[in-house]
Amino acid sequence: MNIVLLGAPASGKGTQGNVLTNILNLPHISSGNIIRQNIADKTEIGIRVKELISKGKLVSDKITNIMMLERLSYPDCKNGFILDGYPRTLNQAKALEKKYQIDIAINIDVLEENAVKRISGRRVCNNCNKTYHISNLKAEICPICNNSLVVRDDDKIEVIKERYKIFNNLTKDLLNFYKEKGVLVTVDGNGTSEQTSQEILNAIKEVNKNDIN
Ligand code: AP5
Ligand code: MG
Repeated sequence: MNIVLLGAPASGKGTQGNVLTNILNLPHISSGNIIRQNIADKTEIGIRVKELISKGKLVSDKITNIMMLERLSYPDCKNGFILDGYPRTLNQAKALEKKYQIDIAINIDVLEENAVKRISGRRVCNNCNKTYHISNLKAEICPICNNSLVVRDDDKIEVIKERYKIFNNLTKDLLNFYKEKGVLVTVDGNGTSEQTSQEILNAIKEVNKNDIN
């Protein structure tokens, strides 16, 4: 099954991707994580995009498509994937569509004020990339791999505003694209993480049921 997670910054795409990957046994592929890994590894792409990312700007469609379509060609994607943060523009959605049919595009809808509260408490493990919120942590250490947790470079308030502006400009076209394909489902991202996961799993069950009938 090919799944796309759509939603504003801090809507919970990464959190839900981590939950779904274990339940569905499909790889969780986050464009943001791949870009941040390139920056950490100082690859050619990483060096080129470092400044853009820290200002909250998007990486070009060309670079993003090459990077993501290459990742999707790995053997672990043969039964499907859970995409998080990609596609983010209409051009990216069209490039993806040429290679893969998307079974469900899940739009995690969250109020901006809730998302901003979440971002300000977000911590990310600099080793395994898992995301946490300080309110759920006893110490600023990854409970899974014991590495230190960090604040993302683009989680500063002025950068968050820029990321939201870009998201608001692009999202309508992207949602319409998947709506017209008949695969768009919107879930409420304002409740607990468990509530959102349940809504997503129900929507996925519905798609599977329709496929069998
Ligand atoms: P990316 O990493 O994708 O950032 P984003 O879209 O802004 O989304 P976030 O990762 O901030 O939020 P999320 O929805 O994953 O929320 P999370 O689960 O962490 O992209 C970063 C940058 O890379 C972009 O700005 C751009 O520059 C570039 N980029 C990436 N993809 C690109 C593309 N396709 N094209 C071009 N450029 C691209 O949750 C947030 C916090 O809330 C966490 O602390 C979490 O623990 C907490 N939380 C989650 N759910 C709940 C809940 N239900 N209740 C309470 N707390 C919750
Ligand atoms: Mg994320």
